[in-house]
Amino acid sequence: MGRLIVISNRVSVPKAAGAAGAQGGLAVALNSALREHGGIWFGWSGQETEEFTGHLDMQRNDGVTTATIDLEPQDIEEYYNGYANRTLWPLFHYRIDLTEYDRNFGEGYERVNERFADSVLPLIENEDLVWVHDYHLLPLGSLLRQKGVKNRMGLFLHTPWPPTRLLVSLPFHERLVASMLEFDVIGFQTTEWLESFLHYVQKEMGLTVNPDNSIDYEGRKVIARAFPIGIDFEEFVAAAASDEARQAHDRLKESVRGRKILIGVDRLDYSKGLGERFEAFARFLADNPDQAAKAVLLQIAPPSREDVTSYQMIREDLERKTGHINGAHADVAFVPIRYVNQGFPRDELAGFYRAAAIGLVTPLRDGMNLVAKEYIAAQDPEDPGVLILSQFAGAAHQLKDALLVNPHSIEHVSETIKQALEMPLAERKRRHASLLASVREQDVLRWREEFVRTLAGTADTPSVAP
Ligand code: G6P
Repeated sequence: MGRLIVISNRVSVPKAAGAAGAQGGLAVALNSALREHGGIWFGWSGQETEEFTGHLDMQRNDGVTTATIDLEPQDIEEYYNGYANRTLWPLFHYRIDLTEYDRNFGEGYERVNERFADSVLPLIENEDLVWVHDYHLLPLGSLLRQKGVKNRMGLFLHTPWPPTRLLVSLPFHERLVASMLEFDVIGFQTTEWLESFLHYVQKEMGLTVNPDNSIDYEGRKVIARAFPIGIDFEEFVAAAASDEARQAHDRLKESVRGRKILIGVDRLDYSKGLGERFEAFARFLADNPDQAAKAVLLQIAPPSREDVTSYQMIREDLERKTGHINGAHADVAFVPIRYVNQGFPRDELAGFYRAAAIGLVTPLRDGMNLVAKEYIAAQDPEDPGVLILSQFAGAAHQLKDALLVNPHSIEHVSETIKQALEMPLAERKRRHASLLASVREQDVLRWREEFVRTLAGTADTPSVAP
């Protein structure tokens, strides 16, 4: 098997072993794959340069080589803030009301993908496997083919794939999807997104999908399959047992003085259903006055994509809602919602999860959602909390023993909060044990091994869809 060339918009440069604020599970898994297979992780540095030069910043840290490029302000505006986050992200999360179609965004997206292709090209050797990630880089495989790359190339989409009826609202949708078919393998988080994709290529492009889900395209077979991503289970369990986690757990517990904690941890994004979540919690307080002083919602929401208007608006909306709900339900000694616009290191987060009686994961639409899995992994199996999970998160395909809710239904979520708080220990333990087994089994290492084996053409059995 050749080396691995991982390409994504952002690159996570490994920190020294044991360093504080270590990386997320995906980065850990990709770095361990790069250590094993050798290879390079290529992408945008996150930095701005006045004029694009294509200069590669190559670094080697902790056994992993990364190569990054800087982008010009116009690139960042049209490709990252524009086509990726004003067009594709809302569209892929079923929000055509927020989707902006601007010709400059499309041009910027193609220009930056071309720049990615030109910059990474000299790094690719004959036997390398090329693994591209996410919606920022859908045409990259096709551009690399045009430049003569014959290697096996795969794409994994971390987000949902939208239904055909929504996707056709995107100008040049067919050109975009056709460019994706230059990959050898296209991976999705769940069978639901996979089916939407297969529906599109059949109905809109008239292509044939074989019983094994491969697509016949211009004399080749493109493999399309679900590879549900997981967390780095062992690592997260270790994080939950660390001193930092224990301290964070105790600090939070002491501060709530006996009240039950509900926890939400999400990037501040409109797809996460935070407004609906706050309203459901307010409804729970209003409908259960005896509980009002006994529960607190801790919502951790680090700001994200702050140059994009829809993100500024959701932030304002949540600030208003929090103020309103806290004003209505607070007493001199407590507030019902603790709303924190800040991220935390994984160890501390694990401690917060463990302290919480309920994990509230209620996105309106989500490719997978790993917070749900982290919450499960962090629980004390002898006295576990309850996961309330949106039926519209990819994770709901797998985590069937969570309390599944429709996040749009304020009543349903409010009643489910009550049900979770009243759930007997035996039922909590039974549900948690089953969820834990599933989170352990479908971890991120299995995900990347299955993808890489499929890409290398050495997978003997199709991966099991969730
Ligand atoms: C989602 C996307 C990732 C992205 C992340 C953070 O999980 O699927 O590709 O990196 O959000 O968003 P950001 O825009 O800050 O990279």
